[in-house]
Amino acid sequence: MWTSTKQSPLEASAFWPDTSTYRRSSLSTTMADIIFDYVPSSDLPTALEIEQLGYPPDEAGTEASFRLRQSQAGNLFLGAYESNQGSRTLIGYICSTLSPATSLTHDSMSAHVAGSSSVCIHSVCVAPTHRRKRVGLALLKEYVRRLEQAQSEGSGSLERILLITHDDLRGFYERAGFEWLGPSSVVHGSRPWFEMRFNLSANKERESETQILDTNQQLPPGVLEALQRRPDVIPSSRLISDYPNGLSDLLQPDTTTEGVSVNKFDLLCPRDGCGSKILKKGVGKWVERASVQVNHIVVPPLLSAG
Ligand SMILES: CC(C)(COP(=O)(O)OP(=O)(O)OC[C@H]1O[C@@H](n2cnc3c(N)ncnc32)[C@H](O)[C@@H]1OP(=O)(O)O)[C@@H](O)C(=O)NCCC(=O)NCCS
Repeated sequence: MWTSTKQSPLEASAFWPDTSTYRRSSLSTTMADIIFDYVPSSDLPTALEIEQLGYPPDEAGTEASFRLRQSQAGNLFLGAYESNQGSRTLIGYICSTLSPATSLTHDSMSAHVAGSSSVCIHSVCVAPTHRRKRVGLALLKEYVRRLEQAQSEGSGSLERILLITHDDLRGFYERAGFEWLGPSSVVHGSRPWFEMRFNLSANKERESETQILDTNQQLPPGVLEALQRRPDVIPSSRLISDYPNGLSDLLQPDTTTEGVSVNKFDLLCPRDGCGSKILKKGVGKWVERASVQVNHIVVPPLLSAG
């Protein structure tokens, strides 16, 4: 996947020991042997080797970018491990950083801004020996599941997961619930990039809808219908102008606060046949404000025809 190719002084090759670990992996891996866990710094050399086998040199992440992502956003660097008799070998990973931007750009990919709303995926990569065995899809679904969980538990302000891809992997990401947004503004290499998004807030909205539904379902039978039914007796109402002393007939002293007046009657909706209570008796405080000068609009007399 596209990533910044800027080199940094951190890219000392001494950091990388022998990186042939994943090649020892068995080819007969089943999903039961796969576990998901965050990638520790000790597994970064293996991750980098998988990356270099997965992307052309100008697209592959660098040692420095891997170290930065893992140290700054370790809980966004998830690995798929092949587990075998107590030992485990990294065979794939997804890594991301956070950005406040709502779309992927060179800028939003170039820095990690902690506490931001967009998870920007830099790389989804599976070792060549383990491809087309559903490892990538399982890892991606697990990644989304963990972020959804973090979002629903209110940790951070995560709203979406963003990535860019070439069109041949559209189906792969759609199978994990990502939506196709169309051409990306990112230009890198000869092939066009497309942006895809997973909306984490949608999950929250779905949850609150479910909660409302649940609450309704817990109501005793008939309560909802009773609330929706029009009342048999609609209270009669009077207009303010019907009171001989105007407002002073409608106010009474508040029993709890000296010098404050409150409404003496319920305030009802004046719509024909409605009569719903808008303000209950004794709740509204009367407040006097400076009067406002209203300019009179002079309406010219209508011209008579003929
Ligand atoms: C893309 C990648 C992560 C997929 O991992 P994987 O473990 O092989 O994928 P899965 O086995 O889980 O694939 C699930 C489905 O996704 C689709 N899919 C996977 N790889 C695909 C590919 N290269 N082209 C088209 N569709 C693909 C298929 O529908 C596949 O189901 P199928 O095998 O029944 O046809 C892996 O090929 C890889 O690491 N590639 C190099 C790095 C890369 O390009 N990453 C993506 C950057 S945007």
